[in-house]
Amino acid sequence: MQAAEIVQQLKKERNAVILVHNYQPPEIQDIGDFVGDSLGLSQKAATTDADVIIFCGVDFMAESAKVLNPSKTVILPEPEARCPMAAMCDAETLGMVREKYPEAAVVAYVNTSAAVKAQSDVCCTSSNAVKVVGALPNKQIIFVPDCNLGKYVQRFFPEKDILVWPGFCATHDSITVAEIDELKRQHPKAPVLVHPECRPDVIDKADKVASTEGMLTFAKASPEKEFIIVTEKDMTYRLSKENPDKTFYPITMAICPTMKMITLEKVIKSLETLEPRIELPEDLIAKAKVPLERMIEIGRGD
Ligand code: 13P
Ligand code: SF4
Repeated sequence: MQAAEIVQQLKKERNAVILVHNYQPPEIQDIGDFVGDSLGLSQKAATTDADVIIFCGVDFMAESAKVLNPSKTVILPEPEARCPMAAMCDAETLGMVREKYPEAAVVAYVNTSAAVKAQSDVCCTSSNAVKVVGALPNKQIIFVPDCNLGKYVQRFFPEKDILVWPGFCATHDSITVAEIDELKRQHPKAPVLVHPECRPDVIDKADKVASTEGMLTFAKASPEKEFIIVTEKDMTYRLSKENPDKTFYPITMAICPTMKMITLEKVIKSLETLEPRIELPEDLIAKAKVPLERMIEIGRGD
């Protein structure tokens, strides 16, 4: 039997659902019951009636699934698949910053640990960061951990003071204007779709700034036939699969090594053993749930 068939069989036996992020390798995207961005995956995790959630993504995504739906068995097939940006913000330091700015609201990008979320007023993803900050009455915002996303949100609210944490995603932060200019030279008619984890000068090159799911929505609706995709390179797999008449040009160097740690073999082993599980203390789940549910209530922004 082929690996993908074994997955299907075990999935039925376990009453499991396989949730897959858009940056996962193609063979993992192909076995997903749902493939999506961070917001879509959180929404699915919160409402699934499966007993087991196999999360093909990184640590903070699987943790969010556990927080939103704690009675489920949540499995991250590779426990070392930790987002380096999420690790750049810790709850203790955030607590000290909070004390220094008592009037400020803390907005935590979902790319944070459950402990950081527990210290936050509301979460956001790249699809709704602008909408989430816009819904807050506070003039002062502490935005963690992505400085690029925080600076992007600041563009929409000149009247607010957004204190950005010095975190960043190396995969997006290392994309340069020169790479985009070169792709633009080769494909002058292609609109440029940029993820807001990119640096401000890269964002300035965008025809559309969007989350990974927002890119898909934009590309589907657009009459254009070619697109330059400025985010992790495997995003173009799903874009091409769902838009076979269109062409997508990736930034070939933009690879998230953590996302590639999930393999078919590890998914099969997880389905067989129901390990390694995400386990979190009950009080932490209760605290982290509040900002995550506020985010889900606010909904999609792009
Ligand atoms: P989205 O899929 O929510 O746009 O997030 C990108 C990302 O970097 C997830 O780690
Ligand atoms: Fe983290 Fe960046 Fe990888 Fe997303 S792409 S999981 S933010 S390192």
